[in-house]
Amino acid sequence: MMPDPCPSIEGKVAVFGIGGQVGSALTLALGEKAIPLSREAVDLSEPLKVSEMLFALKPAAVINAAAYTAVDKAEQEEALATAINADSPAIMADYCSTHNIPFLHYSTDYVFNGEGDRPWVESDTPAPLSAYGRSKLAGERKLAEIGGKHLILRTSWVFDAFHTNFFNTMLRLGREREEIAVVGDQFGAPTYGPHLAGGSLAALERAVRMDQFPTGVYHMAAEGVTTWKDFAEAIFEGALESGILKSAPVVRAITSEEFGAPAVRPKNSRLSMEKLKWVFGIALPDWRDGLTHALEIKREAARHAH
Ligand SMILES: NC(=O)c1ccc[n+]([C@@H]2O[C@H](COP(=O)([O-])OP(=O)(O)OC[C@H]3O[C@@H](n4cnc5c(N)ncnc54)[C@H](OP(=O)(O)O)[C@@H]3O)[C@@H](O)[C@H]2O)c1
Repeated sequence: MMPDPCPSIEGKVAVFGIGGQVGSALTLALGEKAIPLSREAVDLSEPLKVSEMLFALKPAAVINAAAYTAVDKAEQEEALATAINADSPAIMADYCSTHNIPFLHYSTDYVFNGEGDRPWVESDTPAPLSAYGRSKLAGERKLAEIGGKHLILRTSWVFDAFHTNFFNTMLRLGREREEIAVVGDQFGAPTYGPHLAGGSLAALERAVRMDQFPTGVYHMAAEGVTTWKDFAEAIFEGALESGILKSAPVVRAITSEEFGAPAVRPKNSRLSMEKLKWVFGIALPDWRDGLTHALEIKREAARHAH
């Protein structure tokens, strides 16, 4: 059995979003301590249901890894994205504040406008460029108003070996294409889901043990910085080395404007992790370590398939 990552929380932890990249890793790390809540169990587009569920479950802590994360589609569905990313998290925060239990929630680098090349600090003024970014910022603001014992962890560019994401899309395109065009003018840190889950639970455990719960916003992303184009090249290089791909496509850098996604992304998504290190003494591994891990899982899966 794995050791309890949050021994100071006496009781079970309700986890929303267990089908997602972060929620699945959290559920695995928490083991029997988790009360796993899928979309089927409670749909966050109906905030009142969230309240009913929490009153019925009476958890000792709540973690919300559920979110409307379809960044481009959110441009057409901002009201729905806001219900899921702001109204339901506010209901969770209300419950946690009323019952004096800790609440862990996630936000995003997309709350920033991406200007400059300095890593964003938590006190920088958000100015989201997209409906998704606005909906996540609305969630942050509601939590700040409600107060209580909460941690809001802003992360970036999440990937793992199992879900639909940039990493898996590149591996698929790597088999299908000889050349691909990838955005080369956005800078950030690809954050490995299991690393983020581990860091989140470590931060939560430390927060609970502090004399005063350090409520607030924290940046928690992988160490290091890259672009999507360089991330793609690193994926192909690793996939070739480990035999996951037999050949890799040529990667051509294009601008965000050339790519032309419906939602505008920040060009500078670098997040400063100084506050996280200072308050909790925690830093996530480098994005390259996460990539190595994800590739190992793929290699093992390919080996077992043969
Ligand atoms: N992915 C990124 O690159 C990224 C970057 C920065 C911040 N974040 C933030 O990090 C957190 C975790 O993201 P992730 O990458 O793990 O997201 P993800 O893989 O897209 O998972 C999101 C989860 O939310 C669930 N969900 C969506 N709509 C729901 C609804 N109406 N009711 C209940 N559940 C619903 C999904 O359920 P189903 O499994 O049923 O679809 C899924 O389990 C989110 O707060 C996200 O905003 C993510």
